[in-house]
Amino acid sequence: MSDRSNRKSLDPNPPSVLIADDQADVRESLRLLLEAEGYAVITAASPEETVVQARTRHPEIVILDLNYRTDTTSGGEGLELLSRLRTLDPDRPLIVLTGWGTAPLAIEALKRGAQDFLEKPWDNARVLTVLKNQLALRHSRDEYQRLSAENRALAEPVSALICRSPLMLEILREAERVAAANATVLLTGESGTGKGLLARWMHERSLRKAGPFIRVNLGGLVESLIENELFGHVRGAFTDARSERIGRFELASRGTLFLDEIANLSLASQASLLHALEEGQIERVGSADPVAIDVRIMAATNADMRTNIAQGRFRADLFYRLNTIEIRLPPLRERCEDIGLLANHFFKDAIHRHGKSVSGLSPSALQALERYDWPGNIRELAHVIERAVLLAGGEWIGVSDLRLAPEASARAPEIENLTLEQAERYLVHRALERFRGDSDQAARQLGVSRSALYRRLAKYRQ
Ligand SMILES: Nc1ncnc2c1ncn2[C@@H]1O[C@H](COP(=O)(O)OP(=O)(O)OP(=O)(O)O)[C@@H](O)[C@H]1O
Ligand SMILES: [Mg+2]
Repeated sequence: MSDRSNRKSLDPNPPSVLIADDQADVRESLRLLLEAEGYAVITAASPEETVVQARTRHPEIVILDLNYRTDTTSGGEGLELLSRLRTLDPDRPLIVLTGWGTAPLAIEALKRGAQDFLEKPWDNARVLTVLKNQLALRHSRDEYQRLSAENRALAEPVSALICRSPLMLEILREAERVAAANATVLLTGESGTGKGLLARWMHERSLRKAGPFIRVNLGGLVESLIENELFGHVRGAFTDARSERIGRFELASRGTLFLDEIANLSLASQASLLHALEEGQIERVGSADPVAIDVRIMAATNADMRTNIAQGRFRADLFYRLNTIEIRLPPLRERCEDIGLLANHFFKDAIHRHGKSVSGLSPSALQALERYDWPGNIRELAHVIERAVLLAGGEWIGVSDLRLAPEASARAPEIENLTLEQAERYLVHRALERFRGDSDQAARQLGVSRSALYRRLAKYRQ
């Protein structure tokens, strides 16, 4: 009982029911019953009015009479209405009301797509149960469709993790050992070093490989949505919560939950996450019922977590809980042996995708790639190769097709040998190259406004 009254007071978007019957007393007594239970009730007295209401008010469920006075014996008019409603929205549950002793008509209605039927005179408790079940079914169907769309995206084939450098081979050996244990793993390393790819690679080598791999990008979510995304919510938890939604923790059940860009989590969300991890259970937003969780956590960041902790931006207790095992992915410039192999891999992929007939990378291009210092790591390498394939005029990709920034083409200059102005100029050019000319991002990385960046560029041109 308390459950129901809760819903009435909390739910600003009650489920709407359309009652279609030509008898006013039927409409009124059903309306009284359903409104008392917190439903929003719409009524219609004729088939025409029913269609109009269904079209304009979008009720979530329809209860319709099959026996209109004009056509009491065959129920033909009611059945036709049923079919029209089905065409309007094939997913909307339709419940038919039939007179006593008209079982064949009820069966015909079920055949034509009605979900259930109620016999007049009806039993109030049965009306409520039928409605509740149909709405729950519809919501889980909607949720299922949302999840299957999400899982299709997640099930895209994993691109192979390519490497041959002794450094990376050793890391993969360790990662494989760690994958088999159920321990929490923290992946660190610069942007574009392959943390996301390695997390998935490890999941596929874990005891949970038959379960889902669910990523949540904590860097890309507004603060107010994080808990909702992680823990889900119950119907009516807040204004837009029209239906129950499960969160990533539950979605990842029996699999791996990959918390990406963990350093971006606010202190408040860090507290909720720590609570969930410590208790081994979560509560959906708006509900006090705990749900046990069964996930393996992997987390990733390109930030320096120890500095974040020292500056009070990240909780030490959460960090140690996530950091049972840390795997650091080295920047590409520390594994030069992988550059040629990766470049050829991205080359094959790009000519295939763009249907280009380029024979390959020239030896001098390969040499230039190996000398470049890759501030954007493997992601940058993939972009450079793709751009070169698109721009290449000849049969082979040459050095000029790569368009590498001259400043980074030799290894970074010895900073102590530069003048202040040279150092500044170097950093500005590196930032622009790294973000492929996006001055907003470059300015943010350099910690100056965009106009300050433009002023410097204008000065260098003089
Ligand atoms: N060893 C590898 N072999 C093949 N592709 C790789 C490898 N490492 C990374 N990549 C590719 O490089 C791109 C960047 O990798 P990923 O997104 O995993 O990096 P990241 O470390 O998570 O970066 P960020 O911190 O910016 O999120 C992806 O397209 C990934 O598939
Ligand atoms: Mg990533």
